[in-house]
Parts: sequence; structure tokens; C-alpha cells
Amino acid sequence: MVEPVQGEGGYIVPPDDFLPMLREVTEKYSVPLIFDEIQSGMGRTGKIWASEHYGVNPDIMCISKSVGGGIPTSMIAYRSDYDTQLPKGFHLGTYRANPVALAAGTAILNYLKNTDILERVSSKGQYIMKRLNEIQDSSRYIGEVRGKGFMIGAELVKGRKTKEPSQEMANMVKSYLYRHGVLMLTCGHFGNVMRYIAPLTIEDELIDKGLSIFEDAVKELEHIY
Ligand SMILES: Cc1ncc(COP(=O)(O)O)c(C=O)c1O
Repeated sequence: MVEPVQGEGGYIVPPDDFLPMLREVTEKYSVPLIFDEIQSGMGRTGKIWASEHYGVNPDIMCISKSVGGGIPTSMIAYRSDYDTQLPKGFHLGTYRANPVALAAGTAILNYLKNTDILERVSSKGQYIMKRLNEIQDSSRYIGEVRGKGFMIGAELVKGRKTKEPSQEMANMVKSYLYRHGVLMLTCGHFGNVMRYIAPLTIEDELIDKGLSIFEDAVKELEHIY
């Protein structure tokens, strides 16, 4: 079971051959391959599913968060032949198949399929990455910028050479951003990765405003350390 692009773990993009290799091995040994697309799915990386970037289909996929567009819902998709192995009535349950949530999910999937939003996420994502790389070039404290689409992480480190993680700096940046009207979460094993996870519909002006406040926050670190 893997996230095609890791979320809480630090916005980690795997090498291109990682998921194809997992598919090959799991097929060889008949092990179900499960993708958790709860954070990386629903257009977040510029494709409906992050795993599409790697051309790999899982046997089971976990989906949630944006699929409900604010209505709490989650779902599991699985290989059609698994269905025959499940007992009849298996899907029944108190909170299952909420019609409003399912209608929201259908509308959102149709929106992703029938508009140019995914192209926007890809092209704007590249722009954001470029801007973050420029901020990285001007600071000693950003170790790496990585991601796809609107799922981009910037690592805060004590120095470029050692790349020692700094949760303290990440918390300072987060607090500076909060005081200046920008919400950004941290993630990663060491809590030092700032994650860019804006709504896919965010306006251009707000992207630029957020990035320049982020730049100010990183500059502020230069005064403190
Ligand atoms: C990748 C991923 N999977 C699953 C979940 C859901 O976890 P939970 O049901 O504990 O909220 C999350 C929540 O953040 C997530 O990011």
C-alpha cells in the first residue's frame, strides 16, 4: 500500500520507475497493489490520479478529501473481478453511499474531466515551482523544492550543504505566513516541509500574493539566523 506521491510523509515524489517496479513485483507474486490517492488524487498533481503520471493501475484505490468538495466522504475503487468475491449486501451500512456526497463526487469528477482545470494545475504548478526555486536560490535555508501540480513541498534546513532539517524554521515561517494572511501546513518526518496545497481554483493574483509573502517569510529567516 503506497501513496503515489507521499503527503504527510513530506511531499515526496518517487523516482519514475518506482511504481512500475511495484506493479511488476506485486503482479509476479499476486499481491494486491493498493494506492492511497486520498491526498494526491482528484487533480491535485495535474492529473485526476497521481498514479496516472506513472502509467500504473492499482488493484484497489482509496479516495477521499476533495472528492466530496467539502462534503465528508470517502470511497474505495477496486478491480471489477474482486466484486464477485464479495458477499451480497456487503456494501450496506449506516453512513454508506450518502446520496448527496455521491452526487457531489460525480459533479466534481465531471468537472475535472470536462474543463481545462487539470491543464491549469499543471501549468500553474510549474510556475509556482519556478518561483519557489528562485526563492530557494536566494536563501540558504531551503534544502529542496519538489512536487507535481499543486502538491509542492519546500524543505527548511539549517544549511544547504548539510540539509539538516529545521522544524523550528518551518514553524517560524508558518507563523509568519499566518500573521500575514497565508495558511500553509507543514509535513514530513521532521516537520520541516512547507506544503503548497492551494485549492485548484485559486485565483492567479492570490497565487502571486501568497508566493511573495512566502518569499518575505524566508527572507525574515536570514535576519534571525
Ligand atoms: C494520504 C492520506 N490517506 C488517508 C488519510 C485519512 O486519514 P484519516 O481517516 O485518519 O483522517 C489522510 C488524511 O490526511 C491522508 O492524507
